[in-house]
Amino acid sequence: MNRKYRKTVIAGNWKMNLLPSDVKPFAERLKAEAGRVKFCDVVICAPAVMIPAAVKAFRDTRIAVGAQDVSEHDAGAFTGEISAAQLRDAGAKYVIIGHSERRQYHGETDAAVNGKLRAALEAGLTPIVCVGETLSQRETGVSLDMIRAQVKSALYGIPAEKARKIIIAYEPIWAIGTGMTATPEQAEEVCGEIRAVFRGMYDARAARAVTIQYGGSMNPANAAELLSQPDIDGGLIGGASLDAEKLLAIINAANQ
Ligand code: 13P
Repeated sequence: MNRKYRKTVIAGNWKMNLLPSDVKPFAERLKAEAGRVKFCDVVICAPAVMIPAAVKAFRDTRIAVGAQDVSEHDAGAFTGEISAAQLRDAGAKYVIIGHSERRQYHGETDAAVNGKLRAALEAGLTPIVCVGETLSQRETGVSLDMIRAQVKSALYGIPAEKARKIIIAYEPIWAIGTGMTATPEQAEEVCGEIRAVFRGMYDARAARAVTIQYGGSMNPANAAELLSQPDIDGGLIGGASLDAEKLLAIINAANQ
């Protein structure tokens, strides 16, 4: 983390878990300890149908609400899709884009990720763009090439003043939901490389300012060490974000 130049952001990705009726009790638990949320921004990325309840439950707190996906289209005949303007109007402030589960199970391409990123920025949402390599890509030594390509195509055509508003989440696919965490050194190497891509595409200032998260089996036991790396500015947390105590412990680690 480097709080002098950029925000630390801890985001929970609930994925397709919990029910709308679970939101209030979860929020009560988190709010009871909200004093701990001092030096980092906290976001709960809930399933779309739970966003209104989450916005209501976290009103008057420092905890923001995010979505897990967004349409690249503005409006129109796109059954089942949700636009960035709709998310924004419902009170969401953040949106996850290009999560590996969407790339893998829903055929989301780099071009679609770029379109969604443009739509989110246009609507004033803070995008959390996910990138990450598979296990075989890591084992064959092409991780950094993969990540550079993913970041560059996501950012294609995005001007510097908009790029400053983007968060990148490095989520190695082999570490998601597996209990296998990247070592702090592995995560730092990739996050540093992502920052270098920003330096190359924009400038040193943009590189210094971009918040880069790590995600993939982050938990209370490993969060502090991961977050102590200079280029890791937060976490995107799946499983552990479903448990308010665990999420609080990670928030606590980010406040150190
Ligand atoms: P886990 O924390 O469950 O590994 O999930 C990470 C993730 O995919 C967050 O977006």
